[in-house]
Parts: sequence; C-alpha cells; structure tokens
Amino acid sequence: MILLTGSWSESTLKKEVPDRRSARQGVSKKTKRVVQRKLSKKYGSVVTIWLANTPVVIISGYEALKDTMIGLGEEFSGRADYPLIMKSTLGYGVLSTSGHRWKQMRKFSLTTLKNFGMGRRSIEERVREEAEYLVEMIKKCEGSAFSPADMLSNAVANVICSIVFGHRFEFEDPQFKFLLQTVNTYFAILSSPLGQLYNIFPRLVSLFPGKHNQLFKDLEEAREYCMLEAQARMNNVDPSCPQDFIEAFVLKMKEEKDKSDTEYHFDNLVSLVWNLFSAGTETTSSTIRHALLLMMKHPDVQERVQREIDEVVGKDRWPSIEDRQKLPYTDAVIHEVQRSMDLAPIAVPHKMMCDTEYNGYVIPKGTMVFPLLSSVLIDPKLWKNPNCFDPENFLDADGRFKKNDAFVVFGIGKRTCLGEALARTELFLFFTSLLQHFTFKARVPPEELDTKPTNCSFGRMPRTYECYAIPSI
Ligand code: HEM
Repeated sequence: MILLTGSWSESTLKKEVPDRRSARQGVSKKTKRVVQRKLSKKYGSVVTIWLANTPVVIISGYEALKDTMIGLGEEFSGRADYPLIMKSTLGYGVLSTSGHRWKQMRKFSLTTLKNFGMGRRSIEERVREEAEYLVEMIKKCEGSAFSPADMLSNAVANVICSIVFGHRFEFEDPQFKFLLQTVNTYFAILSSPLGQLYNIFPRLVSLFPGKHNQLFKDLEEAREYCMLEAQARMNNVDPSCPQDFIEAFVLKMKEEKDKSDTEYHFDNLVSLVWNLFSAGTETTSSTIRHALLLMMKHPDVQERVQREIDEVVGKDRWPSIEDRQKLPYTDAVIHEVQRSMDLAPIAVPHKMMCDTEYNGYVIPKGTMVFPLLSSVLIDPKLWKNPNCFDPENFLDADGRFKKNDAFVVFGIGKRTCLGEALARTELFLFFTSLLQHFTFKARVPPEELDTKPTNCSFGRMPRTYECYAIPSI
C-alpha cells in the first residue's frame, strides 16, 4: 500500500518531485510496482513517495543505482527500520542492522560461510545430499499429482540447517516443521496487505486480532530454539575445528569475552541465525518452485535443458558445480527465471547513514530508500526481450552464456545478498538434479497456466500449484 501524499519540502530537497494530484491518479489504477516504475519514468531516477507520514526515496535505473549504492555505498548502506523485520530480529544480527554492528556481523557471516565452503564438507556436498533426498521424495509420488512447495522448502531449509546447526532434520521432525512454518508465515505476512499495514502503523495494527499476533509468538519461540542451540554449544566447541556456523560464532564470543563493546553476544547470534534461516529458505525455494512452473509453461525450454544435461552429465552421476560452464543454456534459463520473476523488486529497504547530496537532491540522514531493482531487470535498453520469459536474454549469438551486469536480483552495492554464492549453488544443483530425473507436467495445458505471482509487495511470491513429475531415469 502506497499513500502518495505529497512531495519533499524545499528544506529537505533542492529539486521538486512528483506533483500530488497526478501521482494519486496513478496509484488508484495500478499496482505498487507499476506505479513506482511509472513514477520513475515520468519523474526521473529519484522519486519521493510517502508511506502515510514517512517519506521514502525510490532510486531507479541501472546508472542511478550504481551511482548511489556503489558510488555512495557507505552513505546508502543503512537498513530501514521496517517494523516487521525489526520484530523478528529486535535490531540485532545482519539483515536489519546498520553501521558498526552490521559491518561486524556481515564480515563474520561472509567469512564463515566461505570457510564452510572450503573446509570439511563443502557446501556443494551439503546441497547435493539434499538434492538426492528431494529426488527420492518426488519419486515416491509415483507419477501422481503433488504440490512441490513443501518438499522444496524442506530441502533448501535443510541446507541452511546443515551449515548453521551442523545437521539436517528429518522432514517430519516437529522442531523443523515449526521453524519452516514460522518462516513461511513470516514471508506470507510480509508480502501481504496486512504486513504492509503493520509496517506503516505497527502500534495500531498490534491492537487488532489477526494472524500477525500468532506469528509474533512463534517468532519468539523460534528465537528461543536458536538460543538453546547456541547455549548447548558453549562448553563443547573444539577451537581448532568449529563444526557449524553457531560453533564458529561461539568461538568468537569466547575470544572477545573481555571486550566490553563486543558484538559477539547471544542477541546477535540468535538474530543472525534467524536471518540466515529466514532469508535463505523462502527466497531460494520459491525460485525453484517458479522455475518448475516456467518449465511446465514452456515445455520446449524444459526439453532443451534436459537434452543439454543428458549430453554433458548423462544419467549415471549427479550434476556438479563444475558442469555449469558446460551447460550454458541451462545456466541462461536459471538466470532468466530469476530475472523475469523479480523476487525482490525493492530489495530490502535501505536507510541513509548521513545527509547526502545526490543529483541535486539532499537526502537527509535516516530517510528510507527503496532501490528499485525491477527498474533494471525490465529495462529494454539492457535486455533483448525484457517483458517475458526468454533465456535468450542471457545467450550470445553462438549460444554461449552471456553475463549481464544488469542482473541485479541479489541487490547492488554494499548490502547485496550475503547468501548469493550459496543461493546460486543451490539453484543450479537442485534445478539440474530435478530435470535430470523428471519431466514436469502441469494438470492443465501450458497455455492455461498462470505464472504471475500471487502477492506483489515487499516480495513477489510465486504461485503454489500441483504438478506431475514423470521419471526419466
Ligand atoms: C534466490 C535466492 C535469493 C535472492 C533472490 C536474494 C536476494 C536478496 C536481496 C535482494 C537482498 C537485499 C539487498 C539489499 O538490501 O540491497 C538480500 C539480502 C540478504 N540475503 Fe539474500 N537472496 C537469496 C538467497 C539468500 C540465501 C540463500 C541467504 C542465506 C545464506 C540469504 C541471506 C541474505 C542476508 C543475510 C541478507 C542481508 C544482507 C545485509 O543486510 O547485509 N539470501 N538477498
């Protein structure tokens, strides 16, 4: 929900932005995303809208996003105080923090994720293990119709669990089910009108009954679980060989226990674990879910991917990350799924760290900023065929994979997705393993399949559906 109630006053901005009446007319007819893009087209790359009485600056277009998020990266690196996100992290961890705390937590997370990738069991191994479980689960459906949503969430969440908690869960484990259910509800509410309303009027909405109240209780219980996991490790970590993300953090806690201003404490650990679990589950699993839907909608594309996998990988071994180079069409399809679905149209809202001048505007410290990633992902100047699903967007004339800097689905600048490397590994290995083993078919003819997302706000939630998986091995 966007309420366009006016433009910046002269005291805050040197230049004028949208006229009140024309902006309002736009909102009544179109969805938020379309409104934002239209406004940007009409008023340029810096636009101010008002969410009730809060001004929000929208930055759109590749050049403006590069200039601000990279060129003025430090200034634009804050994270907006989004009430629903704050509710789950209490201002700790990495996703919702800014400044010193954020920098410490981000550096620690990136290094630790990288180390787990290189040491002991590689991240690739963990993903492959889950891909194998997933394929087995789907085989059990024996060709009858099923909904892949939960199976995909389970598989992706288990990869994070294996990294963070050091072990995977059985799909029926009640604790695992509870954590997943909480993440699913969290994203569903975050992307719903209720979530938008809460983000604008948190105190007021808290007074009313609704799904959000149960969610808040569940979030507390999920934090409690993470806390118990951390406490259980306090006296049981081998300093030379931490086995999981929590153990690596506990070692840092011990190392810095005499520093009064240390950021290595339980509050940060619990929120960090929640950040990884929540940001890393729904995003990746719903991308794979959408990828399968697009394969059913475009059987010719599915067939070409399967042919390529057959030629390069064959049927006798599982795909590996090394195969990616040799699977340009498949790689292009995965990129195009992500580009066309535009999962996070406004990234995660940023906040100005200090008063900053950009392009003649002075944006005050603390202002909320939406980096409009959508504006780059559908810019006709940057893509061959921006408005529909077309893997050619990532292929050159010789059929080789063609990288494009405008592929900003993971964000741009200092706050880009911390799990990008993991997400890319997961998308590639899950997608190729699934198409190596099955052909996916819808319950209705392809032309009747609707591939539009169900919710369109903070995130664009792809549809759930039932399908058939016809075994090919
Ligand atoms: C298809 C999968 C994914 C997509 C499209 C995606 C996209 C994004 C985007 C757009 C942002 C915000 C960037 C910004 O604020 O400018 C973000 C942040 C983040 N993502 Fe992801 N993400 C994905 C998977 C993951 C995974 C697997 C993890 C877990 C390891 C993860 C963890 C995070 C975290 C912790 C942040 C906050 C980073 C910060 O504030 O510094 N994401 N992601």
